Amino acid sequence: MKTTLPHLQDALGRPLQDLRISVTDRCNFRCTYCMPREIFGPDHAFLPRPALLTFEEITRVARLFGTLGVHKIRLTGGEPLLRKQVESLVGQLAEIPGADLTLTTNGALLARKAQALKDAGLQRITVSLDALDDPTFKRMNDADFSVAQVLQGIEAAQRAGLHPIKVNAVIQRGVNEHAILDLARHFRGSGVILRFIEFMDVGATNGWQLDDVVSAGEIQQRIAAHWPLAPLDPNAPGEVAQRYRYCDGAGEIGLIASVTRPFCRNCSRIRLSTDGSLFTCLFASQGFDLKTPLRAGADDAALLQAITSLWRQRTDRYSEIRSEAAQDQRKIEMSYIGG
Ligand code: GTP
Ligand code: 5AD
Ligand code: SF4
Ligand code: SF4
Repeated sequence: MKTTLPHLQDALGRPLQDLRISVTDRCNFRCTYCMPREIFGPDHAFLPRPALLTFEEITRVARLFGTLGVHKIRLTGGEPLLRKQVESLVGQLAEIPGADLTLTTNGALLARKAQALKDAGLQRITVSLDALDDPTFKRMNDADFSVAQVLQGIEAAQRAGLHPIKVNAVIQRGVNEHAILDLARHFRGSGVILRFIEFMDVGATNGWQLDDVVSAGEIQQRIAAHWPLAPLDPNAPGEVAQRYRYCDGAGEIGLIASVTRPFCRNCSRIRLSTDGSLFTCLFASQGFDLKTPLRAGADDAALLQAITSLWRQRTDRYSEIRSEAAQDQRKIEMSYIGG
């Protein structure tokens, strides 16, 4: 008789479904809200190469997660396209049965890499783009990258057949509010799914204040005032973005309201850092070191045991308790564990 394993659940009854893998802590951008140049300057010590998990190590860990019910794998960074031969990792991960494999990039190197990524087995892609005018975009990325370069990356991804393509924009009060309508106008009718993200208090370096957040509700109203919107059902339980369609048929947008409408209740995500630690929350202050047992020759059963026990104990719900959570709690930087 075939027995089915009961689904792995954390202490709050949430399944483990989504693995986000950071493949490098480096980035060619210095977004002011993520890797401010004052902190991530020329003297900043990034991880030395031997500290990085190898592609074989990453693939082994991802396969183990696959046996535990994880069906979504996202490569992040830093900027994942900076990791040498990342398409070869994509090729290895694409062989995991049933994996929904995707990647989040800033798009600067995408024009060069899109076809190779598609050929290696990448299915879809998410590109970050916070403004459509160079002065604002350059002020935000603080590394002189132009909007045109990212748009060329998106076009290359479309030509290569990566589908769907999502564009993520973080909106900050007084910084790029005008980009809401610019981006909506540009991507309406293009087939690209534009998503707006509320500015979050990740890490400890971006000087976050609640006043800097433009709420998803406000973003929705600003867009709907020009192009009426109607809500869409979620694609899957636990989906981060709330979906809306343009009533005139010009496609859909998403709103990621991690501050004003937290979605911890359905959070099924675990993150693997560049140097092989597992984080059960984006706002965690500590990870679980998986690299040490991995490199000490632990067998699959031992690693699975460690992962299951970590997930079973998980109680994280930072965004739901943000106001009561110790605001001075030391948080890990997003560029290290990935968005
Ligand atoms: P798909 O819809 O499957 O493409 O993926 P996704 O919704 O997980 O989207 P993506 O990975 O692009 O995440 C978009 C943004 O949502 C991230 O950059 C974060 O800003 C935010 N986000 C994603 N996951 C979490 C999470 O677990 N907690 C919080 N607070 N924010 C998250
Ligand atoms: N708040 C919201 N989103 C953020 N990202 C990075 N830092 C923040 C923040 N403080 C997003 C980026 C990108 C993804 C990798 O994470 O815009 O879409
Ligand atoms: Fe780099 Fe993305 Fe962070 Fe910007 S948000 S600095 S592109 S990792
Ligand atoms: Fe998940 Fe933590 Fe984000 Fe809540 S704050 S949705 S628990 S990662």
